[in-house]
Amino acid sequence: MGEHKRIGILTSGGDCAGLNAVIRAVTRRAIGTYNWEVLGICRATGGLMSRPPQVKMLEMDKVDSLLMMGGTVLGTTNKGNPFAFPMTDGTVSDRSQEIIEGYHQLGLDALIGIGGDGSLAILRKLALQGNLNLVAIPKTIDNDVGITERSIGFDTAVNIATEALDRLHFTAASHDRVMILEVMGRDAGHIAISAGIAGGADVILIPEIPYTLENVCRKIQERQDEGKHFCLVIVSEAVCTEAGEAVKISDRSGEGRLGGIGQYLAEQISTSSGAETRVTVLGHTQRGAMPSPLDRLIASAFGVAAVDLIANEQYDQMVSWQNRQVVSVPIAEAISKYQAVDADSTLVKTARGLGICLGD
Ligand code: F6P
Repeated sequence: MGEHKRIGILTSGGDCAGLNAVIRAVTRRAIGTYNWEVLGICRATGGLMSRPPQVKMLEMDKVDSLLMMGGTVLGTTNKGNPFAFPMTDGTVSDRSQEIIEGYHQLGLDALIGIGGDGSLAILRKLALQGNLNLVAIPKTIDNDVGITERSIGFDTAVNIATEALDRLHFTAASHDRVMILEVMGRDAGHIAISAGIAGGADVILIPEIPYTLENVCRKIQERQDEGKHFCLVIVSEAVCTEAGEAVKISDRSGEGRLGGIGQYLAEQISTSSGAETRVTVLGHTQRGAMPSPLDRLIASAFGVAAVDLIANEQYDQMVSWQNRQVVSVPIAEAISKYQAVDADSTLVKTARGLGICLGD
């Protein structure tokens, strides 16, 4: 059984479906099997920065209903890097030491950090600086964390995008329209390529494969020539204009956030081909749903495995899905190997084999 432990768990970065299922799995394994204490840390590292640290005591009967619940009961943030924390007076400050002190004030023996590559890099830096025993769990609808075939949240997002294509199909056919679906994915096209194939898209545009409007319009024309007067296009938000510029919505940060490539394409396609176009931007509906069965399963397996890593005192490790099982890999390796869509991958070959236009 080993010695008694008090562990913390936090969710960091953008939320996604399946986070609550991991919180449940960690709690059940840590308390049910090992009889440890589990502290849920609120608002990512923000909870460790607060004084007193802001936590929720997790207990077996409190996590029962979390398996199918979207979001995260612990709260999260994808802003506020503690090493350059934005202060209310407009300055930035290094608040890493406050987080490290928060961990020690709580008397934690280990911390489970659930995050994407950005959050995991920050958590690892904190762990090295403050001697924190960190175990990581990958989550992100973008599925771009290195050395894991799957991250929590991706499958649900693909399901939602696929269902959106299914719905667009019939209205597109009824009106002879080009329907453009813009999906998330930040810098990677995993959601677009997967949902595009599963949802029967005619054109899939991802940031990893450069496209021309001429090729896209040719595909629309080919379909017209075959008597198919509608076309389904799925585009990842990170796809640039033909001139190579990212399309962004301005926000308070001044950097802007991705969004708008669908509308850009609609205008270009309509001007070049005369086709009637409409755009659907799925946005955060891809993140906010009940987790799919596969995401519940991965979340459960990752949660149990992460607790077992702590039981074996194997720190600085990330749980990873490989060849239908959970293994552990060094966090450093996972965050150093960004996982974009490989242009030679099976899915890209499948899309080409099906006659789907990838714009190149
Ligand atoms: O990384 C997850 C993600 O959903 C991206 O796909 C998207 O670009 C971004 O987060 C959106 O962030 P926010 O919730 O801050 O708008």
